[in-house]
Amino acid sequence: MASINVLGICGGLRAKSYNHSALRAAAELMPAGMHLSLADYADVPLFNQDVQDQGMPAAVTRLAEAIRAADAILIASPEYNFSVSGVLKNAIDWVSRVPGLPFKDKPVAILSATMGPLGGGRHQYELRKILGSQDALVLVKPEVFIGLAQTKFDADGKLTDAATRTALEGQMQAFERWIGRVALR
Ligand SMILES: Cc1cc2nc3c(=O)[nH]c(=O)nc-3n(C[C@H](O)[C@H](O)[C@H](O)COP(=O)(O)O)c2cc1C
Repeated sequence: MASINVLGICGGLRAKSYNHSALRAAAELMPAGMHLSLADYADVPLFNQDVQDQGMPAAVTRLAEAIRAADAILIASPEYNFSVSGVLKNAIDWVSRVPGLPFKDKPVAILSATMGPLGGGRHQYELRKILGSQDALVLVKPEVFIGLAQTKFDADGKLTDAATRTALEGQMQAFERWIGRVALR
């Protein structure tokens, strides 16, 4: 594949999110030819079947189309209370209601940054299970868990920790190979 368009989905909405910063670092460290754009889905409402019955909200349709149009998806998300953030789970629940399963057969890689020491490992396994329900094709390894994120990014959100940069670069290289293996042609 000459050019690979990756959609980044951040599981946290705050302006100075470490996961948002991690997505920007991943974009810098991607192999040539991979390009990252970020999903803007803050206006997706809380899932409610009654709302869906009145018509799919425009924000959901927009997110689903962005997922469908991307060659691959990179999710960076905080762990909330040992599990997936409500924001991210809510968005996936909505997208799962869009006909045709937008995540189906989509190569996905996941990473997480948390202020706790474990870097979000507990939530990543929950997220893998949820993405399995969507028939997404999730990269298994290398895993990237950025624990103690407050010590690894500077005040401008730049990833300054050398070992983490190396790990992220390795994951992006593996992601490129994974996309090449599983992408539908
Ligand atoms: C509701 C809530 C629950 C949290 N639960 C966890 C947790 O289970 N594990 C953890 O490592 N950090 C937890 N944290 C701390 C997050 O790691 C920290 O807020 C992180 O910066 C969030 O990611 P962000 O910077 O991308 O917004 C929690 C934070 C919030 C707001």
